[in-house]
Amino acid sequence: MITVASWVVCGLLNVTEMLRRLTAPYERYQLDELPTVLLVLGLGLTWFATRRYGEARQEIERRVRAEAQLTTALADNRRLAQQYVDLQEAERKALARELHDELGQYFNVIKLDAVGIRNDRHDDPATRRARAEAIVENCNHIHGALATLMRELRPAGLDELGLPAALEHCVQTWRTRLPEVTLRLTVDGDFSALAENLAVTVYRFVQEALTNVAKHAAAQQVDIRLNRCAAAGSGSDWVSVTVADDGVGCAAVQTTRGLGLIGMRERVTALRGELTIDRASGRGFTLTARLPILPPSPGAS
Ligand SMILES: Nc1ncnc2c1ncn2[C@@H]1O[C@H](COP(=O)(O)OP(=O)(O)OP(=O)(O)O)[C@@H](O)[C@H]1O
Ligand SMILES: [Mg+2]
Repeated sequence: MITVASWVVCGLLNVTEMLRRLTAPYERYQLDELPTVLLVLGLGLTWFATRRYGEARQEIERRVRAEAQLTTALADNRRLAQQYVDLQEAERKALARELHDELGQYFNVIKLDAVGIRNDRHDDPATRRARAEAIVENCNHIHGALATLMRELRPAGLDELGLPAALEHCVQTWRTRLPEVTLRLTVDGDFSALAENLAVTVYRFVQEALTNVAKHAAAQQVDIRLNRCAAAGSGSDWVSVTVADDGVGCAAVQTTRGLGLIGMRERVTALRGELTIDRASGRGFTLTARLPILPPSPGAS
């Protein structure tokens, strides 16, 4: 509006002619070139303003996108935290039930047998022996129940056998569950001295990825690759773990209901790693996690 108004005023007052008349006597100073220079300056300012306007719009769009991502991440975090609490509660209840059913009852029986032996006034050797044998049998049962409980709480074989063997065990259980799928596990590198949290994260990653294959992929082949990648320069080595299937894939990952991939990302980023998802409808699904093998923190035993 200001531009149009100034154009009208300049037209009414013949400003350029006036300027030309005024500057004509000073031709030797080239003042008569001023209008053209001012025109170029005006065009330059217009171009600059347009560019700034475009940049400002892009910046606003970037911020809106970042805010939307932040809101989604916060909602995901809240759901994840809620699920952790629910899972913890369910796990505690299951543990209490197991302890009550599997151990509590047997301890009671052992106690009754022990009290019986202690109070046996007739001192009948056959009864005493039978009771002692019952105690041994019940102790064996408790031992077995404890071993089962511990296996459920910790990934099978991770401590005793190491990561590659524990993964082989995990993959083998899926081979029996999914006989129509070919599962290939390839391990390359030395994983003998991995930190415990790193090994558990890799194990849980493969576990969840294979559960997803069974639930969503309808795949025929699944490749599980575990590699140790040498550090570039003075950085730390990396563990790279990939689970790739040739199933139906998916156009967009729906994380609004499931929590598997969100939890996986949380675990991986907590160890300063990165998770990538390569997927497309009809072209399979590939999950990769790259995790740095960090030196043990000072004070860690
Ligand atoms: N191997 C796969 N093939 C095809 N789609 C997959 C695969 N893995 C994951 N997806 C897609 O990604 C979504 C998110 O997976 P995620 O593991 O987070 O949730 P979920 O498996 O549906 O539920 P949850 O893991 O909480 O039991 C799935 O619902 C599915 O659409
Ligand atoms: Mg899942």
